[in-house]
Amino acid sequence: MAKLTVRDLSVRGKRVFVRVDYNVPMAEKDGQMVINDSTRIKETLPTLRLLIEGGARIILAAHLGRPDGKKESSMSLRPVAAKLADMIGRPVAFADDCVGDRVEKTAGALKDGDILLLENTRFHAGEEGNDSAFAAQLGKIADLYVNDAFGAAHRAHASTAGVAQVVAARGGLCAAGLLMERELKFLGDELESPARPFVVILGGAKVSDKIQVIDRLLEKADMILVGGAMAYTFRLVQGYKTGKSLVEPDATPVAARALAKAADRGVRFLLPSDNIIATPVNTGKLNKKGKPVFEFQNARLNDSLDIPDDAEGFDIGPSTARRYSEVIRSAKTILWNGPMGMFEDARFAEGTHEVAKAVVEATQNSGAKSIIGGGDSVKALNQAGLGDKVTFMSTGGGASLEFLEGAVLPGVAALSDKK
Ligand code: 3PG
Repeated sequence: MAKLTVRDLSVRGKRVFVRVDYNVPMAEKDGQMVINDSTRIKETLPTLRLLIEGGARIILAAHLGRPDGKKESSMSLRPVAAKLADMIGRPVAFADDCVGDRVEKTAGALKDGDILLLENTRFHAGEEGNDSAFAAQLGKIADLYVNDAFGAAHRAHASTAGVAQVVAARGGLCAAGLLMERELKFLGDELESPARPFVVILGGAKVSDKIQVIDRLLEKADMILVGGAMAYTFRLVQGYKTGKSLVEPDATPVAARALAKAADRGVRFLLPSDNIIATPVNTGKLNKKGKPVFEFQNARLNDSLDIPDDAEGFDIGPSTARRYSEVIRSAKTILWNGPMGMFEDARFAEGTHEVAKAVVEATQNSGAKSIIGGGDSVKALNQAGLGDKVTFMSTGGGASLEFLEGAVLPGVAALSDKK
């Protein structure tokens, strides 16, 4: 059933609790935490502007990182308040907690159009536990609830689900923000009856992470193009040698079933026919997690379906990239989730960049609708400077994957139905 959106609310003079996903990448620079990518903040501006125009008193809540219920200064949202103030061009007050007397007092003193950002909700264990007493404390300061945090909507936490119940129990409405609405439209409605050919590009490390998405998309897609390390598990099923490539022997039965389902349904399921490989060499060093650090030496083209015993596959090869690009250019709808290789290393980035260029060409030259399912594919497109040339890029990582799998997201389920 369709959900209420922020456009359906009458917000003047009301305290609106807005859950946003400001879980942005940060790094320490000269003793300060600096935001490296503010896309998630930018994407909430339309909702915030609409609320400001409507005269709402805005209380923003978000999480940052995984502090495990404890206060952790490197995960404070304070730098986000400053960044948001800059981007929206008006003051953003910051509360150094998300519940308690002081927060209630500050929230109570807000005027129409004011914005208050609360401190990281995950500094309290009740957030991830969706504790009802904690949700009640959060909800105390809200007349209405808006969820614009698609990226966190797969979490049944106090600020994404529990607080909506608290507000609804008092007769307050709970609505989707404009970003949430766009995410649900592009990753949901638009893929229900896609213009054809519908081409799905899937990459990433593990078949087991993507198998439910593959299974679901096999019902809808005309073609599925596979890249990333997960391609090697499919090659293992077909009896090829995969050398030292990352494969999941446990996932071969599900991979085999996916190949059989594709054949049954007449879905073209393409796998790489050449690869960029390298030889992993243990440096004898350990990383921060205590795992051995490898160097990948002698990066080279492997023009065979078998990978040599000493080598590991890291990217699709040029002839695969050409074949995939041709298919992509003929598409009318494209869904892309997961890079074609280890694109963070320039030696293994070419395949992902070629695919990105083809997706942009199909969008710009033949009017294809291109939907990028979040996470690393978004990073790769931005790295190639092509982020603004596709139809839609999701701000969700895990959330977009779960939504594409067909899961009901708790953050969406908690919103009021449209009458
Ligand atoms: C994300 O970055 O994908 C979301 O903010 C959710 O974060 P989480 O995986 O820590 O719940």
